[in-house]
Amino acid sequence: MFKTVFGVISLSIVASILVACGTDDEAKKVEMNKTVVTEKTVDNTSTRTVGKKVDGRWYTPAQLIRGKKVFASNCASCHGDKGQGLTVDWKKPDAKGVFPPPPLNGSAHAWHHSKDLLMRTVNEGGVALGGAMPSFKDKLSEKEKEAVLAHVMSLWPDKIYNTWSKRNPQ
Ligand code: HEC
Repeated sequence: MFKTVFGVISLSIVASILVACGTDDEAKKVEMNKTVVTEKTVDNTSTRTVGKKVDGRWYTPAQLIRGKKVFASNCASCHGDKGQGLTVDWKKPDAKGVFPPPPLNGSAHAWHHSKDLLMRTVNEGGVALGGAMPSFKDKLSEKEKEAVLAHVMSLWPDKIYNTWSKRNPQ
């Protein structure tokens, strides 16, 4: 069962990358992801391939697989299944002055923050500051939190990620 779920997820990752890509460079990346994110390598988390970082990014394919699941069960209800946000204007507070959950896919503000600060938001939420995001400090393990940030950043286009990465060398 465990294996099958991973198989399906990795297939869908590869499929969506295939659909999204065109150039040679991207094709290479797809090729890499294809090799790395297979049922076999993911199953055996101690192998070097799974520990290998995704091209140009700080996280590994194994973290992405874990992060996608964590995001779907804990974050998507507010931030949208693709981190796109669920409101027309995330900058507009509601009648009570509370801001809606912003998109996390690189189109809003999240990418202006360091990983530490994003982690602090995940840990502490925003309620203490008059916001609406719950705290995940005790709801997720450290591994799950790292993985969910990996997933969030995987939603950022290269251009956004690279700008972030220059300001926040990992
Ligand atoms: C109940 C709705 C809700 C859930 C669930 C939720 N968030 Fe949020 N999130 C918000 C809101 C609302 C904000 C804006 C700050 C505030 O009001 O607390 C926010 C802000 C953020 C920010 C800061 C964005 C920025 O531009 O600085 C990050 C990062 C974030 N959320 C990540 C997550 C992650 C990761 C999860 C899942 C582990 C998650 N959120 C779950 C509602 C939610």
